[in-house]
Amino acid sequence: MKGSIVLCGFMGCGKTSVGKRAAKLMKLTFCDLDHYIEEKAGLTVSEIFAQYGEEAFRKMEAEAAAEVSKAGGMVVACGGGTVLNPKNVTAFHENGSLILLLDTPLSILQERLKNDKNRPLLQKPNRRQVISKLYRQRIPLYRAAADVRIRSAGPVWVVAKKVAVVGSRFLEH
Ligand code: S3P
Repeated sequence: MKGSIVLCGFMGCGKTSVGKRAAKLMKLTFCDLDHYIEEKAGLTVSEIFAQYGEEAFRKMEAEAAAEVSKAGGMVVACGGGTVLNPKNVTAFHENGSLILLLDTPLSILQERLKNDKNRPLLQKPNRRQVISKLYRQRIPLYRAAADVRIRSAGPVWVVAKKVAVVGSRFLEH
């Protein structure tokens, strides 16, 4: 069964930008899970958090992961919290997908996220500490969920090329 190439990792690691570029290189369709949720709900992620709370968002995210994982043949960019739910990891694996972690150093993430206005979890006054704490909690879970870890500190095209090499090899077999 042909699955998808699924990108996971912390907010700001480049899942969407790398995923789009890698999908082009591999001639696959790109799917952004947050975007899929937004389309389905008719609301932005921020609006879902504000109106219904994080728990409701996580339910929608699990539903989206279950649906998207069935399609196969895509490059899927997860949200930063998607693979923290083991059910979502199982859904991707059961449908023959390969999960890649874009592993980006914390210092780079801090820099990329310092002015972010769209991620509800970061709209707090002590943002640097929030990011550090979440990163420390999550990194072991990302590493456990992923089949392959890709160092992701360089430009988008470099990381996308690495994803395409690993992804193509996986899909050929
Ligand atoms: C989240 C990451 C976001 C989005 C939501 C929650 C998280 O996606 O799903 O704000 O828990 O890390 P990105 O990683 O694409 O920013």
